[in-house]
Amino acid sequence: MPRLFSAIEIPQSIAARLTLLRAGLTGARWIDPENYHLTLRFIGDVDGATAHDFTLALSEIAAAPFELKLNGLGSFGGNKPRAIFAGFAPSEGLAALRRANERAAREAGLPPEGRNFQPHVTLARLRGARADSVAAYLERQGRIEAEPFIVNRFVLYSSRASVGGGPYILEAAYPLDV
Ligand code: 2AM
Repeated sequence: MPRLFSAIEIPQSIAARLTLLRAGLTGARWIDPENYHLTLRFIGDVDGATAHDFTLALSEIAAAPFELKLNGLGSFGGNKPRAIFAGFAPSEGLAALRRANERAAREAGLPPEGRNFQPHVTLARLRGARADSVAAYLERQGRIEAEPFIVNRFVLYSSRASVGGGPYILEAAYPLDV
């Protein structure tokens, strides 16, 4: 069963900017830049028929290109930090695309996403990193100067069943061309 998620790709120029942040934090396992992405809808391990229905629903999404801009770094996990991420400035185009992806998942018979959508690129997974070290890292690196970029397609990725993590395989690409 494929492990699937829909996502927005990160342009190489932005990824190059983000790689400069890959230093100075003990306990961080830095993600390879070719695996950077913004998850729109995590699907997980599904059967072939559900995967087929989801891809079909994704192909019917009609949306226009929009602009995205990184707006800073943060961590997930509070006092037990588990990831460092780069977040995005609020975007109506992104919110609409996320809603459309959620509808596609529902059309494929998947349960609603319970989590709030917090658009991000995971930069590192953390193991045993101290909360105060993470706070100091974010204080040092937290301001990101990256130019906005245009999103003109989104994609469907698969990863190894059950296991997750990169490398991800590009299964399909969906242009935003309304
Ligand atoms: P993360 O980077 O914040 O961990 C592929 O695994 C992508 O799907 C990752 O971007 C990951 O987000 C996200 N993901 C993994 N498991 C998830 C889950 N159970 N719910 C929502 N998103 C998940």
